[in-house]
Amino acid sequence: MRPEEFRSLGHALVDRIAEFLGSLRDLPVASGQDAAAVRARLGSGGLPERGATPGALLDEAARLVFENAVFPGHPRFLGYVVGAGAPIGALADLLAGAVNQNLGAWHLAPMATEIEAQTVRWIGELLGFPEGGGGILTSGGNMANFVGFLAARRAKVPWDSRTAGVAPPGAPALRLYTTGETHTWIHKAADLFGLGTDAIRRVAADAELRMDPAHLERLVREDRAAGRLPFLVVASAGTVSTGAVDPLPRVAEIAQREGLWFHVDGAYGGFAAGVPGAPEDLRGVALADSIAVDPHKWLYAPLEAGCVLVRDRKILPATFEYRPPYYPAEPDDDRIDYHSWGPQNSRGFRALKVWLGLRLAGREGYRAMIAEDMALARRLFDAAALHPELEPVTLGLSIATFRFVPADMAAPAGRDEGYLDRLNAAVLERLQSGGEVFLSNAVVRDRFLLRSCIVNFRTSAEDVDAVPEIVARAGRELDRAMRGRKS
Ligand SMILES: Cc1ncc(COP(=O)(O)O)c(C=O)c1O
Repeated sequence: MRPEEFRSLGHALVDRIAEFLGSLRDLPVASGQDAAAVRARLGSGGLPERGATPGALLDEAARLVFENAVFPGHPRFLGYVVGAGAPIGALADLLAGAVNQNLGAWHLAPMATEIEAQTVRWIGELLGFPEGGGGILTSGGNMANFVGFLAARRAKVPWDSRTAGVAPPGAPALRLYTTGETHTWIHKAADLFGLGTDAIRRVAADAELRMDPAHLERLVREDRAAGRLPFLVVASAGTVSTGAVDPLPRVAEIAQREGLWFHVDGAYGGFAAGVPGAPEDLRGVALADSIAVDPHKWLYAPLEAGCVLVRDRKILPATFEYRPPYYPAEPDDDRIDYHSWGPQNSRGFRALKVWLGLRLAGREGYRAMIAEDMALARRLFDAAALHPELEPVTLGLSIATFRFVPADMAAPAGRDEGYLDRLNAAVLERLQSGGEVFLSNAVVRDRFLLRSCIVNFRTSAEDVDAVPEIVARAGRELDRAMRGRKS
């Protein structure tokens, strides 16, 4: 592609994207088509033998994705934990792709590497993390948590697990501690990194789904008495289902006393630390040995961008570094070669979109947007409480959960909880394909709940106020159909 062609195609594409962003509110939040329909739109042709002209290709690509997407940036996307995606991040990705830096090594990407290092430092400042720490950007929360997990294994296993593995002959079995509310990355980590999921000890949670520290202490004692080796406790700064925040300062104290690595999963809620209205316990993120946060959630960076911070930066090369002959010998301390600080070798310039977002909004801007998201969640929770056919269940950070309950099941006597689970699952299915509002679900104490999570700077009070009646309308219709009643 010649520069002139790039210029005119680029201008046309940016115009189209600007139009899309301007009309986002008027589009359905999801296209609602099934897999067969989406596949049919794409066509099943084989790999093209010959190339085509870029203008037509870009045109078709834009149409395919704009017309067959779920839009996390839509003001009524309130599902899972997906940030809205700041437009400056989209421009940053274009610039990053054009310069095509490889942030595996400083000498391949000097300014880009420094921008990543500065971004990580600023994220540390945002969290109140002490100086002297370090970190690295990752593809997302799972990978950031994996890095913390591996650092814990490196730091706390008394034999050389990098060469001998995690279960050499005669070694005690490793054990780690977390609640059943922790995101499923923990299972992947225990499995992938050789411990097996039996190494996970489930700590009880209280009525608000927060870790019970007394139970943590008891489990650690039991394991030591049985000859096992406790090495890691994982606490949540905002659980994925309900936004529960574990009592981080108490857990930090126990970890310190017991010699455990203290890892915090702050992928969802870490950035709410210090934001007015957030739980005080969140300030305990600063006590972590390692913490995972996700700029592609509450910093609104477009996917993908995660980040892990460690209290002592030396643990990262101690965990990941191999120096093959085809890389420069030992770098000076001043220059970070990120291939030695994490699992990736070649690495993209994801730092740029995060760095630009931080500069565009500043600490104050992020505080205001996060506080607003939390206030909107409370507004929805309160509205659910006032609605005769909705029952609010939990409120944590910017997550509200609730349930549609038909009028004749409002009293405990006439209730069929199994039916309500099925009915609310049907409501969710209808909402996710309907295009009016996109929710997801949580299962709390075995009950299926509708769940709204706001990590979206476009969502307004008006959007939130529309949710109860949209849900109730779907609930009424489906209840009639499922119980075979006539209206
Ligand atoms: C608490 C928590 N941890 C980890 C993750 C995984 O993050 P990612 O999807 O960015 O890998 C999520 C995702 O929602 C999360 O909410």
